Amino acid sequence: MAADRRLHVALAGDGEAATTLRSALTATDAFELTELAGRGQSEPLDVAVLVHEGTSEPHEELARLREHTGAPVVLATTTPSSGLVRWALDAGVADVLWLPASEESVLFVVEKAAQTARQLEPGSGEGRVVTVFSPKGGSGKSVVSTNFAVAAATHAGTKTLLIDLDLQFGDAAIMLGLAPDNTVRELLGTPAALDGEKLGVYTERHSSGVDVLPAPMSPEDAELVGEEAIRSLLRVARESYDLVVVDTAPFFYGPMLATLDQTDELLLLCNPDVPTLKNVRLTLKTLELLSFPEDRLRIVLNRASANLMDRGDVEAALDRKVDWVLPLDPTVPIAVNGATPAVLSRPDAPFGIAMLELVRATVGGDWAGGKQHNRAARLFSFGRN
Ligand SMILES: Nc1ncnc2c1ncn2[C@@H]1O[C@H](COP(=O)(O)OP(=O)(O)OP(=O)(O)O)[C@@H](O)[C@H]1O
Ligand SMILES: [Mg+2]
Repeated sequence: MAADRRLHVALAGDGEAATTLRSALTATDAFELTELAGRGQSEPLDVAVLVHEGTSEPHEELARLREHTGAPVVLATTTPSSGLVRWALDAGVADVLWLPASEESVLFVVEKAAQTARQLEPGSGEGRVVTVFSPKGGSGKSVVSTNFAVAAATHAGTKTLLIDLDLQFGDAAIMLGLAPDNTVRELLGTPAALDGEKLGVYTERHSSGVDVLPAPMSPEDAELVGEEAIRSLLRVARESYDLVVVDTAPFFYGPMLATLDQTDELLLLCNPDVPTLKNVRLTLKTLELLSFPEDRLRIVLNRASANLMDRGDVEAALDRKVDWVLPLDPTVPIAVNGATPAVLSRPDAPFGIAMLELVRATVGGDWAGGKQHNRAARLFSFGRN
C-alpha cells in the first residue's frame, strides 16, 4: 500500500458505537469511507470494519459482510471478552478493536490489517519479469507495458507489479491516471534493506489491482538509481509478485543492462518504419553480443497498418520472425489521453483485442474474459501467434 494512498474502508453495523467509529474514520484523511452494498466489483476495498455491540458472537453479521467483500475484517467491539477474541481468531478476523478507541488506535489497527493482508497476498515466489524495450522513442513501450500489466491483473488475476525504469522521462503512472508521491528513487534512496514489505509501502495500486512503482519525478534523479539497486529491486519484486512488467527508456545503458540480467521475457517493440527497423536490427546484434538468450526474446510489431510495411516486409528487414503484431489504432491515443488503458476502455477495438491475445498467451492460466478473477494463474506459457 502506498504510504500516502487513502485506504478504502467500509463500516458495517449501526448504533451509537458505529456512529462514533464512523466519525473517527472520517476524522483522518488516511481513510476513504465507502459503502459495502452497491460497490462495484472493481472498486477496491482495503479493510471492512464490523461493529459489534452485543454479548453474542456476530456469526451472521460476519457472514453477510463476507458476501460483499474478501477484504480483511476488523471486529470493533464494545463488549470485549476472551471468548469473543478466540471466536474472532477462529473466524479469520484480522484484528479486534476495543471500543471506545482513540483515533490513533483506529488508524493503527485498520492500517495494520490492510498491510498484513497485502503481505499475505499470494505470490509464487517465482514471478517472471517481462521487459518492454525499443531502441526508438515513442514506439509504444509505455502503452504496451501498462496495457500488459493491467490485462494480466484483470483477466488472469495475476499478482502484478509494473516498474517504470524509464528513469528520466517515465510516464507509466500518468498513463494509468496515478499521481503518486513515491517512486523508484524514494524506494531505493532509503537506507533500510529492500524487501517485499518495503516494496509494498512504496508502490501505488491501480484500480485494476496492478501495483505501480513509478519512475523518479525529476530527470536529474535518474542517476541516483544504481544498477546494482535495480538488480536487487527486480530480485525482490519477483519474490513478491507473479508478474513484474518493466517499462524502459529507449537506449542501452547501465540500468537497461541490469534489467536484462533479470529479464525472463523481452518484448522488443518495433514500428513499421525504416529508422526504427535499423535500430531494432542493431539491438538484435547487441543482444547477441550480450549473450541474451534467444528464447527469451519476442519481436512485437506495433502500429501495424495496411498502408505501411507489412509483417513480411518487417521480417525481411530484420531477418527474423515477428512474434506479435499490434495494430495502429486510434483508440490507443484516446485511451492514453483518458488515462485508462485501452484493454479496459476499448477491449473490443483492434489494439485491445490483439493486446489481450498477446497477454493471454503469455500469462496463460485461468483467463476470465474481462472479470477480476482468481489469483491461481501463475503458470506462464509463452505463446506466439
Ligand atoms: N498501436 C498504436 N496505435 C496508435 N497509437 C499508438 C499505438 N501505440 C502507441 N501509440 C501512441 O504513440 C504514443 C507513444 O507511445 P508510448 O508513450 O507508449 O511510447 P514509448 O515508447 O513509451 O515512448 P518514450 O520512448 O517516449 O517513452 C502514445 O501517445 C500512443 O498514443
Ligand atoms: Mg515511454
